[in-house]
Amino acid sequence: MTQRIAVLAGDGIGKEVMPEGLRALEAAARRFDLDLTFEAFDFASCDYYLEHGQMLPDDWHSTLVGFDALYYGAIGWPETVPDHVSLWGSLLKFRREFDQYVNLRPCRLLPGIESPLAGRKPGDIDFYVVRENTEGEYSSVGGTMFEGTEREVVIQETVMTRTGVDRVLKYAFDLAQTRPRKKLTSATKSNGIAITMPWWDTRVAAMGERYPEVEVDQFHIDILTANFVLHPDWFDVVVASNLFGDILSDLGPACTGTIGVAPSANINPEGTFPSLFEPVHGSAPDIAGRGIANPIGQIWSGAMMLEHLGQPEAGAAILAAIEAVLAAGDAGTLTPDLKGHGTTEGLGRAIAERIAADA
Ligand code: NAI
Ligand code: MG
Repeated sequence: MTQRIAVLAGDGIGKEVMPEGLRALEAAARRFDLDLTFEAFDFASCDYYLEHGQMLPDDWHSTLVGFDALYYGAIGWPETVPDHVSLWGSLLKFRREFDQYVNLRPCRLLPGIESPLAGRKPGDIDFYVVRENTEGEYSSVGGTMFEGTEREVVIQETVMTRTGVDRVLKYAFDLAQTRPRKKLTSATKSNGIAITMPWWDTRVAAMGERYPEVEVDQFHIDILTANFVLHPDWFDVVVASNLFGDILSDLGPACTGTIGVAPSANINPEGTFPSLFEPVHGSAPDIAGRGIANPIGQIWSGAMMLEHLGQPEAGAAILAAIEAVLAAGDAGTLTPDLKGHGTTEGLGRAIAERIAADA
């Protein structure tokens, strides 16, 4: 069965790391005999905006909805287009209108990368953050009254629905169930946020009853952030509301070293709409155009995409190749953020060759 992938490179280093992501996917497709087709689009970029006055064409939804997945680079060029315009006009539309209600980020310390947490080695940090991606604290319910007067009042309500919370919890429990440790940690704050968060806890407990093999614990978000730093080895799958998940999904990958390697997925688990796979990093205007961006975040996102498309072996082979090249530690291959003096293309080629060689 052919799987169709829409390719949206975006801006800045997105355009530099995307070819390396595709190179790895093509190598994996050859090795595992996958039938992948790629179709590239120039929209969802600031260049497109400058030409057309909008980030996406009017028919973007019908153009993309039939794809099996969206493979995304990075967006943003604040010199020409304000960040809220570029982000809200593209990525956030995909997340909402394609109901990508799970934001998934692996936090895994790779060989050859020094963790900012002293003394941690590969194997010590290996967990997922599952963030609710559509509701919760990021709601449009609220408003401002008496603006500019002494009575000025601003209200923004948290919105949690049983449908919205249960479906992300189910995803997280399913994921925990597939992992060797089978452990799920819930981020809460039921001591302070005394309406929604105790309710969140009851939904976690109710879902947990359906997964007797999964061990469940929970922490208030404040001590949880501390434990990410102090005890990252405690975690396996961490599930959180939109705001808490936003914070944890930056903190987790930060504990595993350079932002250049971190991948992420925005998933619509039912497959009603295509899911989106992208590196965590942005367009990095400070290094764009020099060919030195680390392509691993993009390549690893491609591995997550293959896993989502039902090709876990191919995804695992890409990750194994990344780890092998990092472990080899050749300074001429590694990019400057990894303390090497290699290039985006050189590192991408080394990983693609490794994918092929492991066959
Ligand atoms: P950024 O992630 O682009 O860069 C932060 C720092 O990390 C920079 O010093 C950059 O050189 C470095 N860096 C990032 N990726 C790297 C890589 N692959 N290899 C080596 N070094 C890397 O974040 P920043 O500077 O806050 O934002 C720049 C633009 O990207 C903005 O327009 C922002 O809105 C956008 N952005 C887009 C995202 C997306 O498309 N999902 C996510 C984050 C930011
Ligand atoms: Mg964030």
